[in-house]
Amino acid sequence: MTTGDISKRKAAEAAIAEVTSGMLVGLGTGSTAAFAISGLGRRIAEEGLTITAAGTSLATEAAARAAGIPFLAFDDLAAVDLCIDGADEIDPLFRAIKGGGGAMLREKIVASAATRMICIVDASKPVETLSRALPIEVLSFARAYVEGAIRCLGGDPVIRPAPSDQGNLLIDCAFGPIVDPEGLARTLDAIPGLLGHGLFLSEIDALYIGDETSVARRER
Ligand code: 5RP
Repeated sequence: MTTGDISKRKAAEAAIAEVTSGMLVGLGTGSTAAFAISGLGRRIAEEGLTITAAGTSLATEAAARAAGIPFLAFDDLAAVDLCIDGADEIDPLFRAIKGGGGAMLREKIVASAATRMICIVDASKPVETLSRALPIEVLSFARAYVEGAIRCLGGDPVIRPAPSDQGNLLIDCAFGPIVDPEGLARTLDAIPGLLGHGLFLSEIDALYIGDETSVARRER
């Protein structure tokens, strides 16, 4: 296992310690969330933990089923007790860019439905200013319009080869350093045909940062 993987697993294991029987747990997407899924599967098998899960992607749903975690259909999801998910970047105000795995639309629904969201990362993810390319999900027939709108905002849109789980376009938009994430989010939210973006500005309640030997826990 790489040092990055050990760090991700440390953060994930610390987060799943918050899970108790009876919870509906939102499971994130990506390599860090995968450690949470396998850890919860282990706790179900070894401790008799009884939970139901809601997934943020088809891959997560498959991994959770393989780990023996009972699953709620996504369209039956109304409220989640605890959401555990990774991030691509996160700043000191717990504002994050997500969607490296293209799952940010479902991830935001699950995070918004959650009473508490824990973000689990390795030490490469915290940044002072969000700056990596921002993923957006776009209705195919709105492609040219949304690309034009992104360019007007100073962004450089690059379409991913594979669609989202919902069959929509995924477009990475490089804006450079995002000095006003709230303003950008408001602008993106108002673009017709743009279904979702990876700016998570208010959803995250706690941040667990793993390294090889320990986990730093921060609360909002
Ligand atoms: C998927 C995500 C992931 O949480 C994010 O990309 C981090 O992934 P990883 O844990 O593999 O670094 O937002 O859409």
